[in-house]
This record gives sequence, structure tokens and C-alpha cells, in this order.
Amino acid sequence: MENRSGVRRIGVLTGGGDAPGLNAVIRAVVKSAANCNCEVIGLEDSFDGLIEGDRWRRLVPRDVAGILRIGGTILGTTNRGNPFAYPIETSGGTRNYSARCVEMFHELKLDALVVIGGDGTLAIAHQFSTMGIPLVGVPKTIDNDIVETTNTFGFDTAVSFATEAIDRLHTTAEAHHRVIVVEVMGRYAGWIALYSGVAGGADGILIPEIPFDLEKVARRIRDRDHVGARFSIVVVAEGARPVGGTATVLKAANGRYVERLGGVAAKVAADIEALTGKETRTVVLGHLQRGGAPTSFDRVLATRFGARAVELLLEGAFDQMVAFHPPDIVGVPLEKIVGRTRTVPPDFDVIRTARAMGISMGD
Ligand code: F6P
Repeated sequence: MENRSGVRRIGVLTGGGDAPGLNAVIRAVVKSAANCNCEVIGLEDSFDGLIEGDRWRRLVPRDVAGILRIGGTILGTTNRGNPFAYPIETSGGTRNYSARCVEMFHELKLDALVVIGGDGTLAIAHQFSTMGIPLVGVPKTIDNDIVETTNTFGFDTAVSFATEAIDRLHTTAEAHHRVIVVEVMGRYAGWIALYSGVAGGADGILIPEIPFDLEKVARRIRDRDHVGARFSIVVVAEGARPVGGTATVLKAANGRYVERLGGVAAKVAADIEALTGKETRTVVLGHLQRGGAPTSFDRVLATRFGARAVELLLEGAFDQMVAFHPPDIVGVPLEKIVGRTRTVPPDFDVIRTARAMGISMGD
């Protein structure tokens, strides 16, 4: 394609929690850039790669051969707090993180960046953009909670894994006439719980967007008992909360790290056991949802995102995020996504479908 921006040397980095498909994006950036006679520099561990002089490496197509199907990120990542808020120690003394990054960007003779990350990393990218760094963001997260795109890569893989786990739990729950409560990730959005719960045929799905009353879930479990289905599966999103209550927090935010959610399944299970008298167990899927090979859907989406990010850079369309607006991959201004979270709308069709299946949404 025509290079209208004059961008010739592109830095690429991955930030925030990892998600299956990061390597597929890196591969797509490297390959499509090479096909347009551009060089790619891989920056290690998010913006850390723009702090110390030895945290980068040139990436050519043969460096990315075979990584399409591999989880994690060959560049490493970190989900520390906002670099704009903290001074850092470098070999050259204490520096402002952001100023140092801009300095290094020029030292490395980069023309532009591809920043692959979630809402936090993309907000940081937008700040760097306002400081004059030409860049394009790529939305990544298993949580699927970034606005302006119908999908982020990683989500489909997480849902597939959770669905398989629920399938396996069904047989043991049935054998023992138990209730099993499965806790899935998603932070403050219920996308993973909703999709894996529907795909796995759960009997209850609890999401942050609909505060729960466990008596409603217990009623559904008792009803199933009465018709001879003496086991139940309840999927609970880590950010789900009871009516009038708050989400279960494992570790409070401390400035540098964001709040860590987790533990709601144990509370839900104890209450369900008390309300139904049924033996109840919990399974927390945790980081298993972030590991492993990306699904074919995520590989295709990640590849399209990476290739489109390079196209936008060559068009000179900076400060944008690539986004999936089916059937197209488009660019949207990064400022439109900063500070916003895409939660599940309460009237969403998949929620209505879940209800039509008799699944209790806890309300
Ligand atoms: O944002 C992705 C995510 O996996 C969330 O679903 C989860 O709450 C969080 O990251 C876990 O973060 P960490 O890897 O820091 O424990």
C-alpha cells in the first residue's frame, strides 16, 4: 500500500494483562510492515521497553514465524500503574517515566508506535499521543470491556476455555447431585460469564451488571430438583455483587496496582448451600482463562487488527484504535475510549436468551 505518512520504523509493545492473540498481532504487524518496507522494533515489557536502552530488539518476519498459535507475548508485559504518575530509577538517575519514554522513542529513531493493550494501556497511549508520538492502539483483553469495538481478541479464547470447564463440571456435578459454582474473570463486566454460561448450559449466571439475590437462584435449583435434575451449575463473574452489596475484593488498589477482584464464588456457594441444603463446591478458573492457544476467531481478529494498525500508520491516521465494526476493521479516535468501560447492557439479547432458557440471572 501507499506510504502517505513517511513512517518507516515502527515500535511495537504489549501492555497490561496478557490475552491469547497478542503474538498473533505482533506477527501481523511485523509481516505487514515488512511487506511495506518498514522496520519493526519490539519493545519489551510494555513501556519499560522505552526506559532502558537495552530493552528492545529488531523484529523481522523470521522472528515471528510460528508464534500465531502461541499464548502470552514474546515481548513480555506488565500491568503496573500509570507511567505518567510515577518517577522511575534508570541507569541515568531518577526520571519522569513519560518524558523518558519520549526521549527513548527519538533515540531509537522510531517514527511511530503500535500499542497493544487494554483500557489502561490505551489511555496511556493516548497521553503519549498528545505529547507528539504518532501511534495506533490495538484493543486487547479477555474481558471484552473496551468501548467502540464489538470484540477484543482474547475474549473468544477465554469463553471457549470456560465453556469446556463447565462441560466437564456438569458430569461430576450430576454424578454427585451437587451444585458447582464456577468463578470466571471479567473485572466489572459480565461478558465472559454470560457467554460461557449460555454456551455451557448453566442454570444460574451472575454478572456485575445485575446485582443478585441468591434466593432467586436457590429457587431455580430447587425447581430443578423437583423435576429430577438434582445438580446445578452456577457461573459467577468475579465482579458480581449482591443487591445492595459490593464486589468481592482480594486486594485493594494501592495506587500502583489496580483493585484485584476474586472470591465471590466461595460466598455464593456458602449461601446457596445454606438456602438449598445441597452439597456445593466451587471452582475458580482464574488465569487458565488467559493461557493457551488463541481460538481461530481470535487469531483472525488479532491478525486483522495488526495489519490494519500498520495501514493506519502508513495512512497517517494517528491517535486511533483499531476496532471491529462487523464486518470491517476501522479506526476510532483513542480519546473516545478513554475512561469508559463496555459493560453488558441489561436488555442485551443474550441476557434475554438466557432468561428464555430458564437460566436464573439472580434477579
Ligand atoms: O483484565 C484481564 C484480567 O484477567 C481480569 O479479568 C482480571 O480481573 C485481571 O486481569 C487479573 O489481573 P492479574 O493478572 O493482575 O491478576
